Amino acid sequence: MTFKTLDDADLKGKRVLTRVDLNVPMDAGMVTDHTRIDRVLPTIREISEKGGKVILMAHFGRPKGKAVPEMSLRPVALALSERIGTPVGFVEDCIGPAAKSAVDGMSDGEILLLENTRFHSGEEKNDPEFVAALAENGDVFVNDAFSAAHRAHASTEGLAHRMPAFAGRTMQAELEALQLALSTPERPVLAVVGGAKVSSKIDLLENLVARVDMLVIGGGMANTFLAAEGVNVGKSLCEHDLKDTARAIKAAAEKSGCEIVLPVDAVIAREFKAGAANETVPLDAIPQDAMILDVGPASIERVAAKIDTAKTLVWNGPLGAFEIEPFDKATVAAARHAAERTKAGELKSVAGGGDTVSALNHAGVADDFSYVSTAGGAFLEWLEGKELPGVTALE
Ligand code: 3PG
Ligand code: MG
Repeated sequence: MTFKTLDDADLKGKRVLTRVDLNVPMDAGMVTDHTRIDRVLPTIREISEKGGKVILMAHFGRPKGKAVPEMSLRPVALALSERIGTPVGFVEDCIGPAAKSAVDGMSDGEILLLENTRFHSGEEKNDPEFVAALAENGDVFVNDAFSAAHRAHASTEGLAHRMPAFAGRTMQAELEALQLALSTPERPVLAVVGGAKVSSKIDLLENLVARVDMLVIGGGMANTFLAAEGVNVGKSLCEHDLKDTARAIKAAAEKSGCEIVLPVDAVIAREFKAGAANETVPLDAIPQDAMILDVGPASIERVAAKIDTAKTLVWNGPLGAFEIEPFDKATVAAARHAAERTKAGELKSVAGGGDTVSALNHAGVADDFSYVSTAGGAFLEWLEGKELPGVTALE
């Protein structure tokens, strides 16, 4: 994987079309989580300090090619300006006369945010005419939106073929971290995969068993694997129609020498609710009317022991229903253990996916992992071994 970075770019006096991911959580017109905004600040600052005109392109939501007022990026321009501590201009269209006159009026080092690229249908179609319209306002292209790199859109892919293209600092950090975790990792490599469903992670599990040395499976998806082994999981979330798939994944793991680590005990409850009455039981004692909401203490110990033997950890998905206490216990314990080992310099830890980041934040250790990706879908597709068009276009 080779790509040019800001080190290779001549930015002074240039119109730098910069793709960022500003698809941030918003409530009543206010940004409620600034993580993604903060991630792109270094790139914006660097381009600005080097005398480039920073012209930001981003999408927000899924307006499907129409201008939907609730999906305007205008409030994000304000939030961005507050975070960066300098004015950020905004223009109500990303192409055409309005965009052109706003860009023409920029001085070197200034920052301008263009309106939601997905207000035009050409964005998602990667329509060459729309790419050309965007390209009119730029001399070079910088992509700092790893989390949108699984989309082959005009502003993430098309533009990279029209002008000199560079990875921004966040894109660069992300690619370097991911490369370190799966392409050239220090072994043994441990993957921890959780979440509700096997069905949404089949490709991911298949790719991982071929590449990692140990795979911990937790969360609702572990129930399907347990059921495939004949465990009665009661009323637990379980995809009974995927038991054969689970067996096939286990067989593939055996063939490639990947050890699969399943739960050995369970925390069960009768209702899916915070504070629900619960107990810890062995796997052969799950009552018919109960559901598994977390892995038990013996399982936690096993996961911790695996973390202790690993040199590299890739994590996606919680081990239990971490969003309702006390069923966050295993996820929090494992996250803190991985964080400790990382801080001690004994482990490289990379985590990603929407739920995973919330879980690490909940455990208070997001800053202690080697790298936490803000990407959801792009991180998953990368774990699946798929090519990311936005990254490929930079190579
Ligand atoms: C995300 O929030 O996952 C990225 O910004 C991509 O958004 P999308 O799933 O609508 O393409
Ligand atoms: Mg998404």
